[in-house]
Amino acid sequence: PIFCQTSVVPEVPKRFRNLFIIHLIYNNSFCYSCIWEESHSTPVPRCIYPEQHGYIVTGEVTETWNAELEVELERINTPKIYAGEIFNRLLLTVQYQTDHRVRIKIQPKDVPRYEVPQEALDISDDFRTTEDRLYDVSIIKGPPRFAVVVKRRSDSTVVFSTDVPGLTFTDQFLQITTRLPSSNLYGFGEHNHRRFQHDMNWKTWSIFAGGGLPIEPINVYGVQPTYMNLENDGKATMVLLKNSNAMDVVLQPDPYPAVTYRVIGGILDFYIFMGPTPEEAVQQYIQAIGKPMMPPYWAQGYHLCRWGYLNITDVHNVMSRNRESGIPYEGQWVDIEYMYKLYDYTYDKKGWVDLPKLIEDLHNHHQKFIVIIVKKAKINSPGYDMYDDGVRQDIFIKNSSNKVLIGKSWPGISAFPDFTNPKTENWWYKWMSYLYHDENIKFDALWIDLNEPKNFVNGSIDGCIKNRWNNPPYIPNIVGSQYGSLNFKTICMDSQQHWGRHYDVHSLYGHSEAIQTYNALLKLHPQKRPWAITRSNFVGTGKYASKWMGDNQSKWSNLHWSIASIMEFSMFGFSLNGVDICGFQGDAEYEMCIRWHQLGAFYPFARNHNGRKRQILYRHQDPAAWDQRFIDIVKPVLMTRYRLLPYLYTLMFKAHQYGDMVMKALLFEFPTDKQTWSLDKQFLLGPALLISPVLQQNQTKVEAYFPQSRWYDYMTGEEIVPAAQFHNLYTPLHKFNLHVRGGYIIPVQRPDTTTYTSRKNSMDLLIALDEHNVANGELFLDDGEGLSEVVTQSFSVLIFQQTVSLRLKPRVHNYEEAKNLKISTIEIYGLNKLPQKVTINGRELDDNYIRQSGQV
Ligand code: GLC
Repeated sequence: PIFCQTSVVPEVPKRFRNLFIIHLIYNNSFCYSCIWEESHSTPVPRCIYPEQHGYIVTGEVTETWNAELEVELERINTPKIYAGEIFNRLLLTVQYQTDHRVRIKIQPKDVPRYEVPQEALDISDDFRTTEDRLYDVSIIKGPPRFAVVVKRRSDSTVVFSTDVPGLTFTDQFLQITTRLPSSNLYGFGEHNHRRFQHDMNWKTWSIFAGGGLPIEPINVYGVQPTYMNLENDGKATMVLLKNSNAMDVVLQPDPYPAVTYRVIGGILDFYIFMGPTPEEAVQQYIQAIGKPMMPPYWAQGYHLCRWGYLNITDVHNVMSRNRESGIPYEGQWVDIEYMYKLYDYTYDKKGWVDLPKLIEDLHNHHQKFIVIIVKKAKINSPGYDMYDDGVRQDIFIKNSSNKVLIGKSWPGISAFPDFTNPKTENWWYKWMSYLYHDENIKFDALWIDLNEPKNFVNGSIDGCIKNRWNNPPYIPNIVGSQYGSLNFKTICMDSQQHWGRHYDVHSLYGHSEAIQTYNALLKLHPQKRPWAITRSNFVGTGKYASKWMGDNQSKWSNLHWSIASIMEFSMFGFSLNGVDICGFQGDAEYEMCIRWHQLGAFYPFARNHNGRKRQILYRHQDPAAWDQRFIDIVKPVLMTRYRLLPYLYTLMFKAHQYGDMVMKALLFEFPTDKQTWSLDKQFLLGPALLISPVLQQNQTKVEAYFPQSRWYDYMTGEEIVPAAQFHNLYTPLHKFNLHVRGGYIIPVQRPDTTTYTSRKNSMDLLIALDEHNVANGELFLDDGEGLSEVVTQSFSVLIFQQTVSLRLKPRVHNYEEAKNLKISTIEIYGLNKLPQKVTINGRELDDNYIRQSGQV
C-alpha cells in the first residue's frame, strides 16, 4: 500500500489549529479521501489507499483523426464513501496538441460536467504536431490500475504519471495523485508565503479565491492551479490543472515526489508544457493561457496610494510634499473615501468637491489619477440608479430562488454584478462612462478590488440554504471551512451565474470582471491601452489586468515574501505585478520603509499603499511624510528605476509579445546551477539585472549569490570576482545592490520626476561585456499608450551589438519618433583598457568625450 499523510494540521497557524481539528473531527471531511489508519506516533493523520483503488482500462485505445487517444476506464474496488454519485465509467482523452504541449483529460463517460468555459480560458484547439514532438504518452491498462505516463523523448524521463492508486471520480470529490520527476516544485497560487521553492514535506495548499488576510498558508485572492517542476539536470515542465473548483493540493515526498489534488467539482483536465528549459516551459504556458497585456508606459512609474485620505486636502498635502521633495512620482491613487457614501462610480461632492480640479492639476503636471472600484451596487439609494438599472438589465447574480442575491459591501446592502454575463459589460461601461464624462472624474486607470468576490456577510444577508453546494461533503482546508460551508465571506455557492453555478465559477469572478473592465475601458478610450489592476485572478487574467498582492503586512518578513509572490505571478503570466511598498496593514517603520523602497523600486509595479483599520489610520508612509534623510535615501533608488524604464518597458513588450517573464527567479537564467534553485531573496529583472535587497532590520551585509557570468556593480562598474559563489555585499542604509550581467546592453534614459518628462531626455547605453567582450541589447519604443503596438505594428525594436564596434540595427523600425533617437553617453563595463580611439559612423571622436571612471 501507498502511505499518504494528509498533513494539514501541523502547518495551520496556531490560532486556527483548534478550529481545524474540530473541523476534522466533526466534519470528518478527510475520510472522503482516505481509508483511515489510526496513528499514535505522529500528530499527522495517516491514511492508506488500497493497492487496487482506482480504475482500469476497458477496451482498446482508439486513435482519432486529430491525433487524440481515447480510452474508456472502469472503476474497480473503490470504497463507497465518497461524495455524491460515483462515476463508474470515465473517458480519458490524450491530445497531442503541439510538439511541446499535451493535454490529458479525464471526465465521466457520457455525463456532461461543468468545465472552465472557453470564454474564460481559451487554450487554442487548433493544434498540430510534427516529428519533433518532445514527448511520448503511454497508457498502462491495469489491473491493478490504469495510468497515463508522459515521457520526455530526449532522455526518457517520466515527467508526469498517474501510476499511483487513489484515482477517485465522484460528483463532488475528485482525487488524483501524479508523480513528479523531482521534488523541485514551484508555483500553485494564490498564497502569500515565504519560500519560492516549495516545501514538499506533506504540505497542503488550498486553492479557492478568498478575501482573507494573506498570511501563509491561507488561500487568498486568486486561483492558479499550476506548477513548474525542475528536474535534477535543469530541465523543466509546467503543468496546469484546468479546473476552477475549490481544491486541496498536497505536496508529498514519499515514496516518491508527488502531488495529490483533491478537487470538489469539474473534471481532471491537465495541460503539460514540456520546456525543456524552465524559461521555455513558462513561455509555452503563458503563450497558451494568454500573454500579459501591454501596460501604458506611465504604469511603470512610482505610485502613491493610501486607504485613509480623509478628504481632498489630505491628498493635496501628499501631492505637494512629494512634488517638492523631487522624487519621481507618477500616479496618485484614491481609495474608497472619494466615493459618495462608498457607492461605485460616484464621488463625494462634499469632502471631495474639487476632485475634478485636483485631477486637472495632476494632468497638468503630467501625472496620472487612478480610482478604486469595488464591483457592487448599493440597493435602495435614492438618486443613484446603478442598482435599479442593473435590475432592469438583469445583470446581477441570482440566488437559488432566482432573486437577486443581496450581500454586504462598503456601502451596505448591495448586489453583485455577474461579469460572466455578456450583458453586464454594457452596464459596467455605462456607469464607468458616467463617472468619467458626466461626473468629470478623468481617471487614467482603474483598480478593481474585493472581486473574490468578497462579501461582508456569509453567503447573503439571508444566509444560504443548507445544501450540497453550500455545504459540500468534502471541503478543502480553505478559510472558513471550519464552519462546514464554502460561503464564508463570499456569496452562496448555489447562486446562479451566466457561466454556471457559483459553486463552479466562484474563482472566475475576478477574472470575468477583469475581462469586462478591460473591454469597457477600451470602449471608453478606443485609442488607448486599457489598464486596470485586480486583486482576484484566475489562469490567464494577466492578459487583461495587472496584479497587486493585496493586504500584506507592514512587517520585515513581508519584504522577503513579496519576492516569492511576484516571481510566482510572473510564471502565471502577469508582467506588471507588485506588492504594496511599506506594507498595507499596520504602521510602517522608518528603516523598513526605506529598505522596502530599495526593494520595491525594482518591482515591475511599484506602488506605495497603506491601509487603515476602521477608524484607526496608519501613519502616512509616502516618502515625503518622513524626513529629509528618508527622501535623500529613497530618491536615488526611485531615480534609478526611472533611468531603467526603457529596459523595463522592453521587458514588458517581450512579455506581451512572447510570454517572457519580467521579474524572475535566478533559476530561469541558470537552470543547471543548483545553487539558484532555492534562491528567493534575490531576483532578476529580465536576463540582465540582479537585485539583492536587504530584507532585515539593522542588516548591513547581504549574502548574495552570483551565478557563473560576469557581473558588474551598476553604480561603479566594478566587477564581482569570482562568480559562481556567494559574496558579502556591504549595504549600509543608503545603499542598494543592483548588478548588471555581462553580455547585455541596457538602454537607459536620464530620469526625471515623471515618465513624461523622462521620455523627453536623451538615452544612454550601459554596455556590460561578457568574457568574450560581447554584449547585445534591445530597445522597444512606441508612443507609450496607444494601441498601435498591437494593431498596426508600429513599433521599433533596435538591436545593439557590441563587439569591436557598436552597431545599432533596427529590426522593426516604423515608429517615427524612434528615428530621432539620440544616445548621448555610452558606458562600457568590463573593458580591460581604455580604447585608443572611438569613431562614430567613421568620424573620430575627440578624446574629451572619452572618460575612464572607476575601475576599468
Ligand atoms: C481592500 C484592498 C485594499 C484597499 C481596501 C479599501 O482591503 O485590498 O487595497 O485599500 O480594501 O478599499
